[in-house]
Amino acid sequence: MRNARLTLDPAFTVGPVPHRLFGSFVEHMGRCVYTGIFEPDHPTADEDGLRGDVLELTKQLAPTVVRYPGGNFVSGFDWEDSVGPREERPRRIDRAWRSVETNQFGLAEFDSWARKVGTETMMAVNLGTRGLQDACNLLEYTNLNSGTKYSDLRVAHGTKDPLDIKLWCLGNELDGPWQTGHKTAHEYGRLAAETGMAMRSIDPDIELVAVGSSSRSMPTFGEWESTVLDLSYHAVDYISCHAYYEEKDGDAASFLASAVDMDLFIDQVVATADAVRAKGKHNKRINISFDEWNVWYQSRPHHAPGVQPWDVAPRVIEDEYSITDAVVVGTLLNSLLRHADRVTIGAQAQLVNVIGLLRSEAGGEAWKQTIAHPFEQMRHLATGDVLRVATTSDKYETDKFGDVDVVDASATWNDDTSTVSLFLVNRDQSEAASVEVSLRGFDVSKVVNAKVLAATEGQDRHTTNATGSHDQVGLRPLQDVSIVDGVATVVLPPLSWAVVQVAKA
Ligand code: AHR
Repeated sequence: MRNARLTLDPAFTVGPVPHRLFGSFVEHMGRCVYTGIFEPDHPTADEDGLRGDVLELTKQLAPTVVRYPGGNFVSGFDWEDSVGPREERPRRIDRAWRSVETNQFGLAEFDSWARKVGTETMMAVNLGTRGLQDACNLLEYTNLNSGTKYSDLRVAHGTKDPLDIKLWCLGNELDGPWQTGHKTAHEYGRLAAETGMAMRSIDPDIELVAVGSSSRSMPTFGEWESTVLDLSYHAVDYISCHAYYEEKDGDAASFLASAVDMDLFIDQVVATADAVRAKGKHNKRINISFDEWNVWYQSRPHHAPGVQPWDVAPRVIEDEYSITDAVVVGTLLNSLLRHADRVTIGAQAQLVNVIGLLRSEAGGEAWKQTIAHPFEQMRHLATGDVLRVATTSDKYETDKFGDVDVVDASATWNDDTSTVSLFLVNRDQSEAASVEVSLRGFDVSKVVNAKVLAATEGQDRHTTNATGSHDQVGLRPLQDVSIVDGVATVVLPPLSWAVVQVAKA
């Protein structure tokens, strides 16, 4: 048995749970849009061609914000192609994923989907092949009432009221050589500043995200953030982080410790942003928009066998997630929550089919992948204030990160409901972990909810929710939980993710 001790106190908080932390991402990539959220011929499709089954599952996940329309796609996208009468919209090549975009789903369709889901739109502008003027035109189209060229165009397209989009990404991953219109930090910093200021002159209420590093391992990481923010601090509100993790060469121990990298990434970006703040004598703080994160097996082929260049909605990076992946996603969510004072926007990438929380088949069923469970639970149960968790845990050895805590945790305190919510991971692959949680400062004495995701009889850590076996991996009651005199004891099965809630009797 492995052991850990957590100490929590209502006086030690990180800050309120940011509403936008539990977001997701819909890119015009692979089958995320077509046969993912949109499939007019599907038996469950509604009057807008939206898949009812995917919509229902999305509502259960309830992402608080959804980034759109890319991703690498946006850096070659002409937004004008995606508005107006559908029959007049052009088919265009998408260079990023070497597929064909039919534009049958566009801005108005996404807006209507987002409203049905009840989520906020986070819109990205193309700063790869286009620039300031097009970003401003799009903002005029979405946010101005009427009486100008682009606002009137929207009205002529049948959308009388402005879409009123508050959150905007100034491009995507322009630090990456793979990005159409890849730039140096200096080139991008100037462009972000100019575009941001011009957009703000149209709508002063918008919030702007500057492109940060595509991963902590980018050769330009650090220098990129520093230069970009030096040039654009006055014009932006957030800097982005993107991170994808995978198990390489069977090194599950290091993979399970991926959140160590995410913690470091966040700490280092915060330090860089604050250094620029001090150097530039700025008052405001730049926070982080962690707007792409997930497990992604990037070392595997991206396209499924049989996919040809310029296919429509090809199968691209449809990773099928295992129990191990769900446990890692649980630790990544913990990392984001632990940094809730500075990471105030999060967008898991992506919502459906493409490295998706959800999977769907054309004309067929839709289901939740293993990784959807920690996301959904935390989205609904992390409420109130994030608590600082003092952790003393047994360690295990990893090749990539040295000795790492066996137990990974985050926690929230909701004063209105007098509930502490604990999000716990046991990284040990073969031993259970006994976790003692000191909650003496809280008036809580009853376990009100305890669920776990772990392998059951006959399963192993590679078990997935696949076609024909959608619910193999899910949540089940966690039996071994008690609370006595303000100390909760939780026994976590090997390689597991769990949520435990304790409240006033
Ligand atoms: O989410 C998949 C891709 O990953 C996105 O298009 C890009 O921004 C990132 O590299």
